[in-house]
Amino acid sequence: MTEPLYTPDIDLAPIRNCRLAIVGYGNHGRSHALCLRDSGVRKVRIALRDGSPSRARAEADGFEVVSLDDAAGWADAIALLAADEAHRQIWTGHIAPHRKPGQALILCHGFSIHYGLIDPPADADVILAAAKGPGGAVRQEFEKGRGLIGFWAVHQDASGTARELALAYLAGIGSGEVGIFPTTFREETVSDLFGEQAVLVGGMVALAKASFDRLVAAGVSPRMAYIDCVHEIKYLADLIQARGIAGMYEAISDTAEFGARQIEDRIAGPELRRTFDQAMAAIEDGSFARLWVETHEAGDAMKADRAADKTLPIEDAGAELRSRIYGATK
Ligand SMILES: NC(=O)c1ccc[n+]([C@@H]2O[C@H](COP(=O)([O-])OP(=O)(O)OC[C@H]3O[C@@H](n4cnc5c(N)ncnc54)[C@H](OP(=O)(O)O)[C@@H]3O)[C@@H](O)[C@H]2O)c1
Repeated sequence: MTEPLYTPDIDLAPIRNCRLAIVGYGNHGRSHALCLRDSGVRKVRIALRDGSPSRARAEADGFEVVSLDDAAGWADAIALLAADEAHRQIWTGHIAPHRKPGQALILCHGFSIHYGLIDPPADADVILAAAKGPGGAVRQEFEKGRGLIGFWAVHQDASGTARELALAYLAGIGSGEVGIFPTTFREETVSDLFGEQAVLVGGMVALAKASFDRLVAAGVSPRMAYIDCVHEIKYLADLIQARGIAGMYEAISDTAEFGARQIEDRIAGPELRRTFDQAMAAIEDGSFARLWVETHEAGDAMKADRAADKTLPIEDAGAELRSRIYGATK
């Protein structure tokens, strides 16, 4: 396997010396901005859409907020940390028409480049600087003197120093403390999408909902069913993160391990494998990406699904439990 690079291997000058506009001030945008400033990147501006609800937060954090058009004309590098499904609109409507020649484009997910949603001109360095994990964790780890594992890739190297910019950016957000690996836009995109669909989000939610329903149908109280099928996911996930799957099995009861081994292969049976093949095919051929961006651009994406979710018994059970444990309400 390829060896990672660490902070001492990396020169931060390429990112410290550049005027950096960060587009979006959500989970990743805010964390990256704060970490890069703490790493000595002085010329950072936050680019937000008109009427953005994030403006107050960015200003309270001490950043200058500018329009997308102004950022495109000012920056040596744009970190496009807005929602992927909006990249095409942001690029064609604001950045491409106003961009400073030679401006680099930095992404933390390969989606919009891999699927050709944006097509930067030949004078742009186009790099991937992906800190793997949720944006909030980037800042949390940085504050502990660590970071999230980083992956870099170069799609276009107009300057001849695109790799150095990617490494400097990742080191600036803390990834150099834990390791920075090379990847490709394709690998990062396909792996990220499949992982979240099959396991982290789609798979986990499907298992949680179906198992909760089955226990309730068997006469178990919603509270108990929620604890066993949803609430405890975190404890097992923490064990796997810290010790691996084999280590998790060592840490739990033999009854749980034996029961899991009875059912594991049947859950991952032919139907699941077919579903995974279909999901993978839609990711590989771009049809998932097209569907998602077209759905987003048509408006109200997932509004009805989100409203329907709130009415499910599993949500009431979770809200009731959280209110007892944390005093929180739904
Ligand atoms: N490398 C990884 O492991 C990893 C993990 C998670 C996410 N990511 C990537 O990080 C990027 C940002 O994700 P996130 O989790 O930070 O998202 P987020 O918290 O939802 O923030 C999205 C930001 O995009 C802005 N935005 C949305 N539509 C916009 C538009 N039409 N024009 C201008 N700005 C718009 C939002 O602006 P407002 O504030 O105005 O609403 C918000 O600031 C994405 O590329 C995502 O794939 C990477």
